Amino acid sequence: MDEKKYEIFHGNVLEAYQNWPSPDLIISDGAYGVRGFRGDTVDVSSLGEWYLPHLLEWSKKAKPSTSLWFWNTEEGWATMHPLLVSHGWDFVQLAIWDKGLAHVAGNVNGKTIRQLPVVTEVSALYRRRLLLNTEDGRALGAKEWLRYEWERSGIPLCKANEACGVKSAATRKYLTKDWLWYWPPGECVQAMAEYCRTNGPASDRPYFSLDGRSPVTAAEWDGLRAVWNHRNGITNVWSRPPLADSERFKGTMERSAPRMHRPTRFSCAHLNQKPLDLMSIQVNAASNEGDVVWEPFGGLASASVSSILLGRIPYTAEVDDLFASIAEDRLRDAAKGDDRNGE
Ligand SMILES: C[S@@+](CC[C@H](N)C(=O)[O-])C[C@H]1O[C@@H](n2cnc3c(N)ncnc32)[C@H](O)[C@@H]1O
Repeated sequence: MDEKKYEIFHGNVLEAYQNWPSPDLIISDGAYGVRGFRGDTVDVSSLGEWYLPHLLEWSKKAKPSTSLWFWNTEEGWATMHPLLVSHGWDFVQLAIWDKGLAHVAGNVNGKTIRQLPVVTEVSALYRRRLLLNTEDGRALGAKEWLRYEWERSGIPLCKANEACGVKSAATRKYLTKDWLWYWPPGECVQAMAEYCRTNGPASDRPYFSLDGRSPVTAAEWDGLRAVWNHRNGITNVWSRPPLADSERFKGTMERSAPRMHRPTRFSCAHLNQKPLDLMSIQVNAASNEGDVVWEPFGGLASASVSSILLGRIPYTAEVDDLFASIAEDRLRDAAKGDDRNGE
């Protein structure tokens, strides 16, 4: 049987989350508070209410290592940021899509004429907050937990270097309390667990145990960390114009976004279709091949198309029938290896 390459749900994503596997990466491109699509809010004041049911599902199904790219306007992101943090998502950085001067044309009205022209959208990267349990019922961040577990053994700190087979990296980096802390490789954490087990006092709870029953293995420890694939030359400012070329799907914009301002010089199937190159930066950076990527607010499913092309397995949903059927065609083509565009 063929391996599953993608899944698209035609309907409200709130009915789909429960059937999707836990995500390694979520790419959210939902309400902006700008009446951008049928169902978008009229301003940012109700974004929290709009996103809350989704945020609850993301938080419930996330792994300790799940990352989230959250697209919005700068005001929409600023409005949503406290809610994301309060639901266990740690802010990493903000990426800015600079659409360039051409984007100003046609976007001027009585309000925007009295401010600097806005030519940007933003995408904030968050990671699921990692908290690890201790013997005495507390939940600590990774840095504090590692130090706590070592100290619990009563073994002098300097012996951690011997345990890890390093000159000074364990004391200087892995168990330090200061800002020079580094995430230790799984094999070192496993080695410290074994060292404490054999040289420390017996304990009901194994040292360095995630579940309280067995010591953490190297693979388990490595799996707790969010993916980051560094590529030279890519910064947090992405300068490229909005889609206006053959990648842009043409179609009945009037039907799909009836309340938007009039179309620009061409009609497009979806006003918010994102460029595949930007989606690829996000997918590449924050997931690995074979990972599960959620794109809850599919539109034309650009993040999911990128995910297929990059060997990830996307799960997406789209509530509008027309968008969903275009997205479905796109996904099918991408899965067949046909990197078709909007022509
Ligand atoms: C900003 S657009 C996404 C555009 C997409 N990034 C692309 O490149 O085509 C948001 C989309 O989410 C859809 N949507 C909004 N709420 C939804 C929900 N609860 N379930 C599924 N789709 C939803 C809207 O119909 C709209 O097409």
